[in-house]
Amino acid sequence: MNLSVFKAQSLSPRTWEGTWQAPSNIALIKYWGKHGEQLPKNPSLSFSLSDCVSQTTLAIKPRPKGNEPAFDFYFEGQPKPDFHPKIKVFLERILPYCPWLLEHHLRIDSQNSFPHSSGIASSASAMAALASALVAVEELPREQAIAKASFLARLGSGSAARSIEGPLTVWGADPAVPNSSDLFAVPLAESNYNPIFKTFCDTILLIDRGQKKVSSTQGHQLMDQHPFANARLQQSTLHLQRLLKALQEGDLKSFITIVEAEALTLHALMMTGNSGFILMQPNTLEVLNKVWDFRAKTGLPLCFTLDAGANVHLLYPQKEAAQIESWISSTLKPFCQEGQMIHDRVGTGAKKV
Ligand code: PMV
Repeated sequence: MNLSVFKAQSLSPRTWEGTWQAPSNIALIKYWGKHGEQLPKNPSLSFSLSDCVSQTTLAIKPRPKGNEPAFDFYFEGQPKPDFHPKIKVFLERILPYCPWLLEHHLRIDSQNSFPHSSGIASSASAMAALASALVAVEELPREQAIAKASFLARLGSGSAARSIEGPLTVWGADPAVPNSSDLFAVPLAESNYNPIFKTFCDTILLIDRGQKKVSSTQGHQLMDQHPFANARLQQSTLHLQRLLKALQEGDLKSFITIVEAEALTLHALMMTGNSGFILMQPNTLEVLNKVWDFRAKTGLPLCFTLDAGANVHLLYPQKEAAQIESWISSTLKPFCQEGQMIHDRVGTGAKKV
């Protein structure tokens, strides 16, 4: 797709309001490291979630043309000045693609379905919901609107590009995925994955709800001078190829091997950069060991993945959910902060409310 399709048609000043919901996503192949304007150093692939969502109402009204975006932001009904700088940077970044922002005032009202400070990154779902609402203003043809929403979401938070569609999306150009692009994410066609992955479950263990010591922005930066940067690019490409095969064949054994290797690689990269850091907590390690024991003893296809934090995502097929969830509740709850966990499953992406 050529960049010009993302440019806005001229838009007459208007009053408009709409509400969009977008999910969080969990990467199976991790995006880690970026260049240029939020372009990924390697391809990534994720499950979009179903219940962990942000919901955003956007209301726009005409104003005299200004030099910068003008907006009010509310989070769960309250003004949130702390979030202003990030939203301002985002709106400025997307001005070339949405020039009408200079002729409208925006009111943005956002809320999350998951608990605040849960350690679940809300930037992917929040940016995807806001991008979907902004694109809806333009009334583009469906296919173009979806690509543009992902393109804009990426400019807010890289991984947000993957929250527009589902259940599986790929971001980053790779010969193994037709039409894949560094500019926006594409869904994996249904014919490319076994139906078992359409209803996969993700239980998120909230190990540490505190503020992360190192943001993902700082983490991405460390990849610029990382001694293993080239090896990581090669590994992610190979992992993507192997994962695509496992998804196609419904090969859970290979799926588990690749997904866990990706999670551990992400954290190994954090530890082995020029100023290394650790985001896992003692309870994260306890859980990983318990999952390995459980799998060895039962043979059930339960595996873990991690994002850039201490929380653990446990992935398993729906048909094993009863047995696995009962073990998770009885054995892993003590390792969660205040016993908190969220049972989610894969979902289909952003939608109008
Ligand atoms: O979108 P960001 O900049 O918050 O980066 C997210 C990076 C990981 O969550 C660690 C991996 C991924 O692909 O989502």
